Amino acid sequence: MRIIISAAISLDGYLDNSREGERLILSSPEDWRAVHSLRAECDAILVGAETVRQDNPALVIRDPNLRKKRLAEGRTADIMKVVVSGSGKVDPQSKFFTEGEGQKVVFTTGDVSPRLSEVATVISRPELTSVGIMVELRRMGVRTVMIEGGSKTLSMFLREKDWDEMRLAIAPILVADQRAPRLVADGHYPPMSLVKTEKLGQTSVLHFVNRTQHRVDCNYLSRSVHNSRMCEAVPERYSVGAVLVTRDGREFDGYTGETAPENHAEEEAIAKALAAGADLRGASVYSTIEPCTERRSKPETCSDLILRHGIERAVFTVREPTKLAKCNGIDKLADAGVEVVVIPALTNEVLEINAHILGGV
Ligand SMILES: NC(=O)c1ccc[n+]([C@@H]2O[C@H](COP(=O)([O-])OP(=O)(O)OC[C@H]3O[C@@H](n4cnc5c(N)ncnc54)[C@H](OP(=O)(O)O)[C@@H]3O)[C@@H](O)[C@H]2O)c1
Repeated sequence: MRIIISAAISLDGYLDNSREGERLILSSPEDWRAVHSLRAECDAILVGAETVRQDNPALVIRDPNLRKKRLAEGRTADIMKVVVSGSGKVDPQSKFFTEGEGQKVVFTTGDVSPRLSEVATVISRPELTSVGIMVELRRMGVRTVMIEGGSKTLSMFLREKDWDEMRLAIAPILVADQRAPRLVADGHYPPMSLVKTEKLGQTSVLHFVNRTQHRVDCNYLSRSVHNSRMCEAVPERYSVGAVLVTRDGREFDGYTGETAPENHAEEEAIAKALAAGADLRGASVYSTIEPCTERRSKPETCSDLILRHGIERAVFTVREPTKLAKCNGIDKLADAGVEVVVIPALTNEVLEINAHILGGV
């Protein structure tokens, strides 16, 4: 999934002024056109509830050429609109809901009015996190999403490191008003890498990418989940997907049973890497389920293989359930000095893919 953050700020880092009912225009016309083209490339756009309440944005694709292009690509002319609202208090009469042909989605932690449920798909969760929201959107077929603010929403995505690219437009305006919303709330944010700068009329646009290890890990885990979908679901083995990434950036995919029914996903990826002459020392292995430490079909387990080849990082989504064997890859690998990282964000998908053994989730 590609997550793009897009925001416009003043030279002193404000997203808006503090005057009620008056929206501060920060983008030049040239920048607006570029933002609209980028929006039209996306499947969904996401904003916080306060932005809907204060700005009443329509967030539709107005340019007839962009609409035509989307239709020609087999997509809807408008993109899906998503709003995050803990309180569920967003007006069903706002342009967000009344304009545009795309699906409207509300993420909330509470109840919403019956009228809101009529105009939008409402997803209620006890807690809203960027990872949880993205998992749901992925399920709904969203592959590229644009996060357009405001401050609280941007803070959540940036703090949770859950983004790939950021497009930041900077206007030659000083707001100088401490009551106005800033780009992000106070907190700790990881550093980002600047990859491009451009001048669009009077607006400077900076493009950043997220190179944090967490984001890299999430992307490879998503790919492992994709690989696991290629497994044939049989009762005697889990459907597992894996990706092996060597220190010099070579990537090898695998899934359980890919070349022989008894082969595990990590084993398939390692075999491909060895056949290609790759050096596995210091590599990272990503798998949807914890590497095994007990196995009936072969003497060497996946954890043994990882240790034998000097792989230094093992990243996975869920511990192996105890239905088929009692594995403890975490302790075995960690005790031997391998860095073990568990990222549970895709747990539900992994469990669903293994419903043939684990039952419904
Ligand atoms: N310049 C730009 O590019 C740009 C873009 C967008 C917006 N803005 C500006 O940004 C300002 C609004 O920013 P803002 O920070 O006040 O609001 P916001 O991020 O638009 O919305 C905040 C609201 O979103 C919901 N929310 C966000 N994260 C949540 C979470 N983890 N759990 C539950 N609810 C969550 C809550 O809704 P509930 O209150 O309903 O619980 C929260 O109050 C406006 O002035 C707008 O003009 C500027």
